[in-house]
Amino acid sequence: MSAPTETTTSTADATRRPVVTIQDLAVSFATDAGAVRAVDGVDLQVAPGEVLAVVGESGSGKTVTAKTILGLLPSTATARGAVVLSNKAGTAEHDVVALDGERLRQVRGTDVAMVFQEPSAALNPVFTVGWQIVEGLRAHAKVSRREARRRAIDVLRRVGIPDPETRVDHYPHQFSGGQKQRIVIAMALVLDPGLIVADEPTTALDVTVQAEILDLLRRCRDEFGTAIVLITHNMGVVADLADRVAVMYQGKVVEQATAHDLFAAPQADYTKRLLAAVPRIGEGVARAEARASARAAGWESAEPVVEAQGLTITYRAGCDARASPRSTTSRSPSALARCSGSWASPARARRRSRAPSRV
Ligand SMILES: Nc1ncnc2c1ncn2[C@@H]1O[C@H](COP(=O)(O)OP(=O)(O)OP(=O)(O)O)[C@@H](O)[C@H]1O
Ligand SMILES: [Mg+2]
Repeated sequence: MSAPTETTTSTADATRRPVVTIQDLAVSFATDAGAVRAVDGVDLQVAPGEVLAVVGESGSGKTVTAKTILGLLPSTATARGAVVLSNKAGTAEHDVVALDGERLRQVRGTDVAMVFQEPSAALNPVFTVGWQIVEGLRAHAKVSRREARRRAIDVLRRVGIPDPETRVDHYPHQFSGGQKQRIVIAMALVLDPGLIVADEPTTALDVTVQAEILDLLRRCRDEFGTAIVLITHNMGVVADLADRVAVMYQGKVVEQATAHDLFAAPQADYTKRLLAAVPRIGEGVARAEARASARAAGWESAEPVVEAQGLTITYRAGCDARASPRSTTSRSPSALARCSGSWASPARARRRSRAPSRV
């Protein structure tokens, strides 16, 4: 490892240095069948406020590259090369590959944060979202409990969670998938990192929510000045958001270009094949028509397999706040069950009530 573990600088142009520079990165995993080379000689740079999209087929090494930036590789992995992260002010650098333990935890969150594909997996179901945001904040900065809570509410508001003063005390299951992803982004943003690595952040969401999350990521860049490494399979997302694109294939970067140049004139054969594989509107019409004509006659008038009539689902405001341990000591389990909705048995309500409450 040639790059220094930490260097500092005070020059005025420090803020323009790349937020991350990846040099000749190689990652392999020890497996029963021998070493698996997942990343092979990758060189990448991301400038402050830039959105770099990383695309490529499944297994090409995108996630492994992303995890290396945060030092999140498992112990079976061996990394060579350098991943030099700059802080947001551009005054200090760390080579993540050479860091471990406490130093790595410091860099994670303050210099770089990650947004994963599946927000439910990133959030702990037994803690309120506010507690989880505050935990990250207090792990990295000396802030009072009151100030941390204020900042949690503020960041929830900024990512578009309505009524954040109340919602800060809610649990992950009380949010929709899109809201959960906003909360994960809030957790990433609260420490104001120079770089967010987002690994397929919209794959688990429907298209309208996808558009909202992309808009939020765009705002992260424009309002917070955050650079973003965006891993995606969706070329529409690339065209919408990316400044530059790196195309990965079998652990290597086979092409890098601005988003405009990549779509206008792809150079590598693999990139041409990748872009040619993007489905286009109207392409599947003939196939869809053939399938439709093969359906049994009269299918429209057959008995429905499922039917909803007059279905209404309502969550009573404040019920879950009342289901927290501090406020439930005088409540009977049956009262909790009523409060939590008709699906909750008293036993279930009791189990739920053991979760930690306010931050
Ligand atoms: N913990 C691990 N142990 C062994 N091999 C691994 C491990 N993690 C990843 N790999 C291998 O590394 C290669 C790259 O995986 P990676 O997750 O980076 O792919 P990807 O480009 O993110 O794919 P996808 O688009 O499907 O998410 C794959 O061959 C994968 O099998
Ligand atoms: Mg992946």
